[in-house]
Amino acid sequence: MRRGRALSGRFVPPGDKSITHRAILFGGLAGGVTRITGANPGEDCARSADAMSALGSEVTPSGDGWTILGTSGALRAPAAAIDCGNSGTTLRLVAGIVAARPWTVTLTGDASLSRRPMRRIAEPLERMGARLEGQGERCTPPLRVHGARLRAIDYDVPMASAQVASCTLLAGLAADGVTRVTLPGPARDHTERLLPEFGAALECSALAHGGRTVSIRGGQPLTAASVRVPGDFSAASFLLAGAACEPGARVTATGVNLNPTRTAFLDVLREMGCDVRVEHEHVEAGEPVGDVTVTGPEQLAAFDVPAAWLPRMVDEAPAWAVVAAAAAGTSRLTGAAELRVKESDRIATLAAGLAALGIDAREAPDGLSVTGGRARGGTRIETRHDHRVAMAFAVLGARLLDPVTFDDLASVPTSYPAFFATLAALGAELVPDTGRSARGPERSEGMQSSP
Ligand code: S3P
Repeated sequence: MRRGRALSGRFVPPGDKSITHRAILFGGLAGGVTRITGANPGEDCARSADAMSALGSEVTPSGDGWTILGTSGALRAPAAAIDCGNSGTTLRLVAGIVAARPWTVTLTGDASLSRRPMRRIAEPLERMGARLEGQGERCTPPLRVHGARLRAIDYDVPMASAQVASCTLLAGLAADGVTRVTLPGPARDHTERLLPEFGAALECSALAHGGRTVSIRGGQPLTAASVRVPGDFSAASFLLAGAACEPGARVTATGVNLNPTRTAFLDVLREMGCDVRVEHEHVEAGEPVGDVTVTGPEQLAAFDVPAAWLPRMVDEAPAWAVVAAAAAGTSRLTGAAELRVKESDRIATLAAGLAALGIDAREAPDGLSVTGGRARGGTRIETRHDHRVAMAFAVLGARLLDPVTFDDLASVPTSYPAFFATLAALGAELVPDTGRSARGPERSEGMQSSP
């Protein structure tokens, strides 16, 4: 089967989604006017903006970001349920904020979010004095948070989840005493990096296996900040994966966040034989940032990702699947049970999509093994309304001559509204149906053609 054109060129990824969520939430809690530039323009972050508006801050789109007139912590009880859409980050972090207020707040979400477990946040918040009511054993949304005056706790998070840690730290910010949160592995640390920009003091100490303990004293006021959001590594990873798969293809993501809790995928690409270069490193919003160039090798080599790396590439597993499908031999992901509780059960969705393309992919309870081979198009992929699965298979499909069709691509603007425009500008040939539900470039993301 003939292949499509190799990707090449430079692109500016959208602003980092995790940092944008946090900047909006912290800005809403702070006193004064917060200005966020280079924000992620996706639907998820708009849900955080709507949530903070419902809680009394004035959140206005401005340029490529947001201006927020904060509440100085004096939030208002929302008039109705807060709809978090597809966004687990919005729901979990907002739950931590409202748990410390003397109200009952209902947090809802779309079909995907309504299947995701919230027991993991109910556990610490209830220990602090709030009460959470979700559906069934797993405490899925709609979630009613009965807030209370909270007491500080020492909490060992059972899984390496930044959302659970951040939820607990935000509750701790309004609790009596010092809250200590311990993570068992290297989950992303954007909350710890950004809260000090808003004037909060935290203490962090590193533990074995990449874990850490973070302490925060309750009652600290936040003050407004100016935040320039760096590019989103996870969004960029799909297009970098596209370059990795074609001998000699070269793609550069500029201004991308290189926080070491996020970049294990680059280590994986190196292990599989790619040339990975990082240039123009600097710091923005307390985060390391740089330009990343990936060049595809003559032949990708299979690689077993060590389980300990997974927390540092938890959102890049779909991009990994694209690369593994093009490698010589069998690549494995292990220690990846968390992937089953993302926007879809990503182990199952990726395995099914790869199998539909004729790639040998096998599920394990906590992982996936993929034997690289010749993918064949002319098939339909079920994305289960998962934006990252959709983008991964779009990159894989764009390499094939026979078109790949999708059940639905409306999930892509969740995190990357300009994804298809950027993929096409890097050289992918998209048949109209494939790109139909993608939106064109918005705000700051765009293309620079290769020199
Ligand atoms: C996020 C943390 C991760 C990640 C999600 C965003 C965050 O989830 O998968 O897309 O912004 O804190 P977990 O921390 O639950 O693994």
